[in-house]
Amino acid sequence: MSEQAAGSATETGDRTTTGDESTVVDSPPPLRVTDLEKHFGGITAVDGVSFDVHEGTLTGLIGPNGAGKSTAFDCITGVYTPDAGTVEFNGEDITGLEPFEICNRGLVRTFQIARELEKMTVLENLMLAPAGQRGESLWQSVTPIARRGVAAEERELRERVWETLEFFEIDHLAASYAGTLSGGQRKLLELSRALMTDPDVVLLDEPLAGVNPSLEKKLLERIHDLREEGYTFLLVEHDMDVIMTHCERVIVMHQGRKLAEGTPAEITSNERVIDAYLGGEV
Ligand SMILES: Nc1ncnc2c1ncn2[C@@H]1O[C@H](COP(=O)(O)OP(=O)(O)OP(=O)(O)O)[C@@H](O)[C@H]1O
Ligand SMILES: [Mg+2]
Repeated sequence: MSEQAAGSATETGDRTTTGDESTVVDSPPPLRVTDLEKHFGGITAVDGVSFDVHEGTLTGLIGPNGAGKSTAFDCITGVYTPDAGTVEFNGEDITGLEPFEICNRGLVRTFQIARELEKMTVLENLMLAPAGQRGESLWQSVTPIARRGVAAEERELRERVWETLEFFEIDHLAASYAGTLSGGQRKLLELSRALMTDPDVVLLDEPLAGVNPSLEKKLLERIHDLREEGYTFLLVEHDMDVIMTHCERVIVMHQGRKLAEGTPAEITSNERVIDAYLGGEV
């Protein structure tokens, strides 16, 4: 399954067959990062990084602490404007756009440290997430927004919030204040909020850190369910077992640079990766 997904991608883009099965067109990958750079004073956090994330894949982004993974996410999602390089989303240059503009286009991320609003309930947190109305998805809205009244819109939003809470099995926490949740529950809330925006591509920054094994299993199952629906994920994670078991492509960063890229098998046998990063773990 994973080889099949990875195998459908080419160097230049994702290959899609049209209605006429004999015609194969190259479409751009959902996410393409080219020569990305970000400096903080004398520190080069991201140093000329390029990679593609292909449609429908779960791609891992790994590297030691300080490798530049979160900063790369920040540059991709508009938290920082990169000092050089470009970010293309579905073939369009989104470099330097504001985070909300990038989110509106369908590229969303979660943060390493969850950013839910602690003094609001779980339900309120989801009601406040910028709900997407961008057509087909798990939560497809059928009627154009302009033809619906505010009450109908609110009702639809509530329905979607409850569907999302049920999907992540946190509906029993709807009335709890976000600040009272466990670390794992916060991660589920964070992902729920991201999903409310109806994205195509989701960047996950250590979504499993501090999550207990049963919640971790649930979160990974939900991620796989969403992939089946056509969502694309880029996952930063330190647990190599998770990366090697669940991702079909892996990108390795080290000291701001891309050290390697390939299938889990290629990465675990890559001498440079073993020397610089994996060491005794392999
Ligand atoms: N706002 C900032 N100001 C100054 N330096 C920063 C800033 N953000 C990150 N850095 C530095 O940039 C480098 C990359 O940090 P980054 O957080 O992107 O790494 P990371 O790969 O996400 O690490 P971790 O696995 O620990 O989360 C580090 O040297 C870090 O100290
Ligand atoms: Mg980080």
